[in-house]
Amino acid sequence: MGVDSMLRGTMRVNELGHLEIGGRDCVDLVKEFGTPLYVMDETLIRENCKRYKNAFAQSYPTETRVCYAGKAFLTLAMCRLIEEEGLHLDVASGGELFTALQAKFPSERIYMHGNFKTDEELTIAVRHKIGRIVVDCMEELERLNSIAEKNGAVADIMLRLTPGVEAHTHEYIRTGQIDTKFGFHIENGVALEAVKKALSLKHLRLHGFHCHIGSQIFEIEPYRIAIEQMFSFAEIVRSETGFVMRELNLGGGLGVRYTPEDDPPTIETFVASICETVREIASRFGFDPPILAVEPGRSIVGEAGTTLYTIGVVKEIPKVRTYVSVDGGMSDNPRPALYGARYFAVIANKASQEPNKIVTVAGKHCESDILIRDIPLADPQPGDILAVFTTGAYHYSMASNYNRFPRPAVVFVKDGKAKLVVRRETYDELLRCDHKLD
Ligand code: LLP
Repeated sequence: MGVDSMLRGTMRVNELGHLEIGGRDCVDLVKEFGTPLYVMDETLIRENCKRYKNAFAQSYPTETRVCYAGKAFLTLAMCRLIEEEGLHLDVASGGELFTALQAKFPSERIYMHGNFKTDEELTIAVRHKIGRIVVDCMEELERLNSIAEKNGAVADIMLRLTPGVEAHTHEYIRTGQIDTKFGFHIENGVALEAVKKALSLKHLRLHGFHCHIGSQIFEIEPYRIAIEQMFSFAEIVRSETGFVMRELNLGGGLGVRYTPEDDPPTIETFVASICETVREIASRFGFDPPILAVEPGRSIVGEAGTTLYTIGVVKEIPKVRTYVSVDGGMSDNPRPALYGARYFAVIANKASQEPNKIVTVAGKHCESDILIRDIPLADPQPGDILAVFTTGAYHYSMASNYNRFPRPAVVFVKDGKAKLVVRRETYDELLRCDHKLD
């Protein structure tokens, strides 16, 4: 399995044998914007948004909300795109909320998350009347209530629950006692207590429940278990308090392809399965189908992103391995170091050549900084451009200035045009917060 199986969206190999994205030759993009460069296929991002919306429209009888998880990738341009596509937006910090508000994203379509939201963050959320605050713990209920009271408001909330299933890629665990800092645990009775408390506080309006079971998930079964748990909890709540769950938010998690071996379900399969499960379980428990929300991040932007690097050094250690060093690394992609994540790549200016050499791609940070171990590439040489696939989610958003690397630029490509949405940081900007020396 080679590069062909990794081409997606508007990607193709053009007549020059170069990788092209959004109608732009990657070699030309590098001439114009330099490397490392995050290239985002705008058409593919929009298509993924539409696929989510259409799949829900086909499979669910009442309102659905696709809340893009901004933590995956958020800039002003991305907020605008999400607004234009009619999605909601999940923010997880004051900075993400600030970005959305600066982009004039409709505040009623924002969901706010966090296991510790500061008073400042909650105050901004309340003053801007954001759509939903997803409350994570007992202390936050009290604090949000008094902030809302001070601001003469009633905050619209959901409660984040811990449904006893946690999933990642091919594995999931089912347990009543998940060890997590997030949410109210259902098993130990805290979630029920939280509902009672929320209903008793005058400046909070409870709409329903939220859960998020993991990320880069390839299986539907853990969602089924979570949905079952959410409804069986909602039934207890209804009988104990009379509160009827009108909204259910199942969080994010659908996986993407980082390498040719990855085989996640399609957006359509995922959405159809959860809709069917929610409908079936709701009716079994005697609920009308609630407003159904999901919070996809990776599956909207992950495969739409490609990072372009310049190869600088090719070092062959006979009988050991060949290191190919590129001009970025763990500052623009911390995922291999953090999670042991695996990637696939191609030499953009030799995309039609058969890969003939197994090499290890190293970043240029001052530690081992391996981006891809043992990947076949077509005769890598200094000056070649390496394109690493599936870097749209949790790359720019997790980039750092380690070793005082300026963060790369981000371009959106579409219909032969490249739009700079984040320009490259400069060396001067690395000093912008340093106190000047006398
Ligand atoms: N909703 C909530 C409450 C979340 O915590 C997350 C992700 C999402 C939605 C979006 O999940 P997605 O659809 O993107 O899987 N930095 C890690 C991923 C951390 C995900 C954290 N929460 C990585 O690079 O793999």
